[in-house]
Amino acid sequence: MHIVQDDAPAPSSARTATPRVLSRHGGVQSEEGVHAGQPAFIKTCLTDEPQVTARFLQEGQIAAGLSHPLIVPLLSASPRRLVFPWISGVSLRERLERGALPLPEALSVVCGVLSALVYVHAQGVTHQDVKPENVLLAGGQAEAGAVRLTDFGMSHSRALGSDLHEGTRMGTPHFMAPEQFRGVRGDPRSDLYSAGVLLFDCLAGHPPFQDALGWLTGLSPERAPLPGPPELHPLLDAALSRDLDGRPQTAQDMLRRLREVARFLGLEGCCPEDEDPCP
Ligand SMILES: Nc1ncnc2c1ncn2[C@@H]1O[C@H](COP(=O)(O)OP(=O)(O)O)[C@@H](O)[C@H]1O
Ligand SMILES: [Mg+2]
Repeated sequence: MHIVQDDAPAPSSARTATPRVLSRHGGVQSEEGVHAGQPAFIKTCLTDEPQVTARFLQEGQIAAGLSHPLIVPLLSASPRRLVFPWISGVSLRERLERGALPLPEALSVVCGVLSALVYVHAQGVTHQDVKPENVLLAGGQAEAGAVRLTDFGMSHSRALGSDLHEGTRMGTPHFMAPEQFRGVRGDPRSDLYSAGVLLFDCLAGHPPFQDALGWLTGLSPERAPLPGPPELHPLLDAALSRDLDGRPQTAQDMLRRLREVARFLGLEGCCPEDEDPCP
């Protein structure tokens, strides 16, 4: 897989070392700034609220344990500040606001996300918040090697003794697996459900369930028709299964099936196997 390098010119505000606040919510501020002379994405915890500070600390602990070309690395961490390199490009959310992706790009982006998830899951971590906002595309390119998975703020790690999010239903309903909505955490197959929604969204330009809460509660089973070529439908259908056992059982398995479909469609170049960043 060709990894898109993160060497785009610094954003203007970073060059002039003027921090630019991007958001402030839940006691956490995100800004575009500078770290060690390089453009950076900086999260600062602004509150003393124990639950927020503990979760902030945990986000740093989990991110610090991950090192993979398709995951935004943590550059520096303190209890109140997390610093990441600035990824010049767009988030997948911003890209999807311009419309659905062509099939090769959709396959490629999801291939990148699954490659990152193979690694994440091998570390005993489940992301729990896979959605277009948390998938950055370096250089703005919709391809596997440009994927940078980020935001481990809701993640579950087997290595950490306790789960600060236990029993919570936090997440974005459209992308959240039904069991996650019931408060079940730490099952990698929940991320595969979200990856399935991501693939659907990339191909259709919208997620599969208009009434996401209705679907999660089992009240409204209505799903939009599956997008993309029919060869992809069994995999989409399985990934979106309410039943955990009906889904691909591992990220590796889902990636393998995605590659099989890509190969069948003559699009194997979208999801190359040989140069995988090793998990
Ligand atoms: N390293 C980065 N470089 C550039 N933009 C980023 C970076 N990390 C996150 N962002 C942008 O900021 C948004 C919020 O960051 P995120 O870590 O997801 O925090 P939140 O907890 O607010 O969701 C992301 O959706 C993305 O658009
Ligand atoms: Mg986020």
